[in-house]
Amino acid sequence: MAFEPTYDYDLVIIGSGPGGYVAAIHAARQGLRTALIEKDTLGGTCLNRGCIPTKAMLHSGEVLETVRRAHEFGITRTEPGFDMDKVYAYREKTVRKLRSGVKGLLKYHGAEIITAAGTLTDNHTISCLGKETERTITAARIILATGSEPSVPPIPGLEQIDYWTSDTLLLEALEMPESITIIGGGVIGVESALIFHDFGVKVTIVEMMPQLLPRMDSEIAELLKKDFQKKGMEIITGAAVNTVAPAGTGSGVTCRITIGEDEKSIQSDRLFIAVGRKPVTDDIGLEAAGVPTQKGCIPVNDHQQTTVPDIYAIGDVTGGWMLAHAATAHALIAVDHILGKKNYINRQIIPSCIYTRPEIGSVGLTAGEAAARGFKPVEGFFPMKAASKAVIIGETEGFVKLVTDKNSGALLGAHLMSPRATDIIAEMALAIASELTIEEIYSTVHPHPTISETVMEAAHAVEGFAVHTIGSSRSAGKRADS
Ligand code: NAI
Repeated sequence: MAFEPTYDYDLVIIGSGPGGYVAAIHAARQGLRTALIEKDTLGGTCLNRGCIPTKAMLHSGEVLETVRRAHEFGITRTEPGFDMDKVYAYREKTVRKLRSGVKGLLKYHGAEIITAAGTLTDNHTISCLGKETERTITAARIILATGSEPSVPPIPGLEQIDYWTSDTLLLEALEMPESITIIGGGVIGVESALIFHDFGVKVTIVEMMPQLLPRMDSEIAELLKKDFQKKGMEIITGAAVNTVAPAGTGSGVTCRITIGEDEKSIQSDRLFIAVGRKPVTDDIGLEAAGVPTQKGCIPVNDHQQTTVPDIYAIGDVTGGWMLAHAATAHALIAVDHILGKKNYINRQIIPSCIYTRPEIGSVGLTAGEAAARGFKPVEGFFPMKAASKAVIIGETEGFVKLVTDKNSGALLGAHLMSPRATDIIAEMALAIASELTIEEIYSTVHPHPTISETVMEAAHAVEGFAVHTIGSSRSAGKRADS
């Protein structure tokens, strides 16, 4: 039975990224007559141009490095090489497989896919215009999941340059350049830098703020910078890009930058701009439907509802955490609200993952943020070099840092740079969301030898008794200044 029989659909979703397609599956499997409108390829940025293909390339790079280092583990006669066409083929095969999985799930649950650009014409009507479709449909509820697109800074000279952004990179960078300048040392900047480096490109990163990954724990950012420099990348922080221009001869680009009092030119074959992303709100009929924007984003309440109650917005288009898993959480919250169900998702605790080597995982507050909020932060620190699993696999760079409140013992934040940090951070998110104390973490037996036990050791370190370190002031948890 239809949820609202007067409309063509109970729910129409515009945009099929990890927000939109999840909303469609969750709604259709619970009986809502659901349509998902997508003008491009199913899966959005994450599946087609972002998370999945970039992590596939990072995985190829990791395999290459593992083979290069194989002699350290007693494996002989390994001469690694790579064939870029085959790396791309593996990447595309991965994307295709996952995309067909999503398509299959949508079909199985009865969600209709409409391949067209969707535009609201009022708060219940959407016009769909595609190569093979031109129709107008109505819906009781609408979810906007149109995502984000790369921001491009107003740097003089950019209009003369054939630069890449994260939306064009994977389509256009089919031949690796000899050298590349990356403007922006945020998440996309550092992950892409590693991909380029792995496949032989000379990389320069120019970051405006004093550290790479400005929102990340400063010690992690510093360690990453040192690791990148050791690999041979040039990392320039605290730099303003003044102009860019085509290089004098042949292809290539020259960036003029200022670092403090100094000016400098950087020359490279290619330019990649990764200075953030902005919500896609143009041409989707927000005005016609009466949905306002604020600073370029669609504001929503705790149920993901816009100020127009039958229209919801999820994911990057709402600003805030522009992360696939945040969009997925929003999708479940919105659909459950539409269905009148209670949703238990904690939307405040969103882990961040960066897929460098070692990986970086972070959730909750840094000590500085905790102090600013009136907590008395105490840090528990445990270095990877003291972890047996890290020694076994030869990946001893990095550490775990837990931020706790001195008064209550509550875990406030966790910042990991370690093998598999992007998996382990989920345990820390669960601990913070469940308001666990440091004692509850270290009183839980963690398996040995694993990287996960470093979290237990760091929890012990808060109280000064981590077993596998000799008890520096850091492991006593006295350092709480970052
Ligand atoms: P970002 O916000 O992470 O980093 C942008 C960086 O560019 C910042 O460090 C900023 O200080 C710098 N910047 C801005 N203007 C500049 C200028 N004119 N010159 C030099 N530096 C400048 O944005 P990014 O890396 O583009 O990523 C976009 C979004 O995608 C983020 O929200 C990110 O979290 C998400 N994402 C997440 C991934 C993950 O979870 N692993 C992977 C890729 C993207």
